[in-house]
Amino acid sequence: MTGKFKAPRGTFDVLPEQSAQRERIHLAAREIFGLAGYRFIMTPAFEETALFERGVGKSTDIVRKEMFTFEDKGGRSLTLRPEGTAPICRAYVEHGMRRLPQPVKLFYAGPFFRHERPQAGRYRQFNQIGAEAIGTDSPLADVEVITLISDLFEELGVPGVELRIGSLGSHEARAGYLEELKSHLRARSGELSDDVRERIEINPLRAFDSDHEGTRAVMTEAPTLLEHLDEEDAAHFEQVKGLLGAASVEYTIDPTLVRGLDYYTRTIFSFVCDRLGAQSEIGGGGRYDGLIEQLGGPATPAVGWAAGIERILLALDEDVTSAGMDLFIAIADPGLTTKAVALASELRHQGLAVEIDLAGRSMKGQFRQADRVGAAHTLILEAGGSASLKNMDTGDQESVDPKHVANLIRP
Ligand code: HAM
Repeated sequence: MTGKFKAPRGTFDVLPEQSAQRERIHLAAREIFGLAGYRFIMTPAFEETALFERGVGKSTDIVRKEMFTFEDKGGRSLTLRPEGTAPICRAYVEHGMRRLPQPVKLFYAGPFFRHERPQAGRYRQFNQIGAEAIGTDSPLADVEVITLISDLFEELGVPGVELRIGSLGSHEARAGYLEELKSHLRARSGELSDDVRERIEINPLRAFDSDHEGTRAVMTEAPTLLEHLDEEDAAHFEQVKGLLGAASVEYTIDPTLVRGLDYYTRTIFSFVCDRLGAQSEIGGGGRYDGLIEQLGGPATPAVGWAAGIERILLALDEDVTSAGMDLFIAIADPGLTTKAVALASELRHQGLAVEIDLAGRSMKGQFRQADRVGAAHTLILEAGGSASLKNMDTGDQESVDPKHVANLIRP
């Protein structure tokens, strides 16, 4: 076979000129999460398939249709992680994190994989950033994690973001409601999409998420979970709403909000962004009080969220510009190369972004290169030890002592 290769469908390269914005998101997240006591965790890119079947749920779209599953050479079934919460709970149990002071507060970032139909904002390999607070059922934790994501969007300047919240109640309390919902769906099953009809018995809540016209009409008259919460779940939700109000986080209550993973209990939330088109959810999450127990650990309540990095970038719609350099060192004579290298190294140690000519260019060529790399200043080293500094914005040039250049250009 000959010919060129392309990145697989639904995947993309992040080119150097596109990386600065991603870096900015990571830095902002580290700062905001770190100040609230969240610590970075990394789990493998693949896990045992059964972890997601049991954690995310066999009736979900993710497990039914979207997993990249393969057999390794030892015949074990492995899956590229479609999401990060089940792996983190696996790590919590595996490493006995319940012995640590609770809640254990973690954040993560990295690639996730879902075999979805690619479109703007929906990829087969995408990146998420997320946070989890494990080991408390206090509504304060729900509000703390919601505040983290909302602070992140605010710090990044993501426009047009709106928070929707709902509550799914606990698994046990939900059972009665689900029966009522199933009878509503069964009574009008002829109007439903095939997909929703097939899942009436195993995942009736997904009907709220359908964009099929007939199904939507049926769902406008469906009973909602919010009207059926038991006393404790309703009180928990009231506290979450009260605390969000106290923290001045704006939200709307969405009684039809559901999420595509089975582990959620009580609070669920979704941040939508009006700049995103069809894939409008920029981040979301909720409480998952039963998941750790379901994965073989002790009963441990927890809450968290994840946001899509590519969706944040789409919403920001920023110009892709290079980060720029503080200084370009140009040399008027090849004999000055060693001096330029030493000076560049010294200035870099002082935290300045410095480039030198690596291609033996003429003086004119070096100035052009300084422009291309976005240097704010160019230092010209001349034979005989003199030097001058050119401000690339104004074109002003002055004689300087290279020893003092750091102070002259520090941004
Ligand atoms: P999720 O809603 O499936 O939740 O994904 C979270 C975010 O990842 C979405 O809001 C979206 O921004 C982004 N995302 C999802 N799929 C894609 C895709 N195919 N292409 C691009 N971006 C995508 C979870 O994954 C849960 N683990 C969140 C969570 C954490 N819940 C509790 N803790």
